[in-house]
Amino acid sequence: MASKDSVSRTVMVALALCVVCSVVVSTAAVVLKDKQVANAANEKKANILAAAGIEVVDGDLDAAFAKVTPMLVDMATGTYTDVVDVTAYDDTKAAKDPAMSIALTAEQDTASIRRQAKYRTVYLVQGESGLENIILPVHGYGLWSTLYGFIALEGDLNTVSGLGFYSHAETPGLGGEVDNPRWKAVWTGKQVFGADASQPLIGLIKGIASPETKHDIDGLAGATLTSNGVTNLVRFWMGKDGFAPFLANLKAGEA
Ligand SMILES: Cc1cc2nc3c(=O)[nH]c(=O)nc-3n(C[C@H](O)[C@H](O)[C@H](O)COP(=O)(O)O)c2cc1C
Repeated sequence: MASKDSVSRTVMVALALCVVCSVVVSTAAVVLKDKQVANAANEKKANILAAAGIEVVDGDLDAAFAKVTPMLVDMATGTYTDVVDVTAYDDTKAAKDPAMSIALTAEQDTASIRRQAKYRTVYLVQGESGLENIILPVHGYGLWSTLYGFIALEGDLNTVSGLGFYSHAETPGLGGEVDNPRWKAVWTGKQVFGADASQPLIGLIKGIASPETKHDIDGLAGATLTSNGVTNLVRFWMGKDGFAPFLANLKAGEA
């Protein structure tokens, strides 16, 4: 019989341990898959609500989300469409599907996203006096990752209610400061556009922005590359290849 310290016995124990651990990890991944998907969906909902400043009472996300109406926008025409069921539509998946997206030229692709989904989901919050908020999905490349989030505008379609990212892999303490509530609060009340509603001016500057300025946002300290990425992605989505044509139609009552 092989001794307890023999090479073959050590290898067998190591192999057995590997098999047991991989079975435990794979089982956990399969069993928890539905929960992970549900958590990701809830995280997205929470972000949409936070961007629009809608309070979640007693942790009831669904009750708060009932105030929000998702609508599908045809990005080519800048008008609403119902060619696809908005409740089943996955913007991120569509952007990767050649049949559901278009390739951006190098000149267009200022957010480094390569492809643009033909349809995008936007979220409306109606109040007593009409449109209170519109929440628009945004994404683009930072330093290490594509940041996915939302920007919410007030009914004037220019003043920012809030901005937040629900997925990114920037470095905590550097680019990851995009999640810092103090930094996110700087966005509230800033204006996306100046006189020209097709030319977004909002963006991050180096250092701290004066509260008096309409379009400047504090840069992320030690994270100029993520800061540039955030400026690029917000300007892309608010610009002519993003939501600017839709916002113009909405303002004119022609969306
Ligand atoms: C480990 C490590 C992680 C970093 N993560 C980020 C990041 O997430 N975002 C970023 O813009 N810069 C990050 N940087 C710094 C960049 O390499 C670069 O120095 C920085 O963006 C320049 O910004 P500054 O001009 O504000 O210093 C990281 C650097 C190191 C060494």
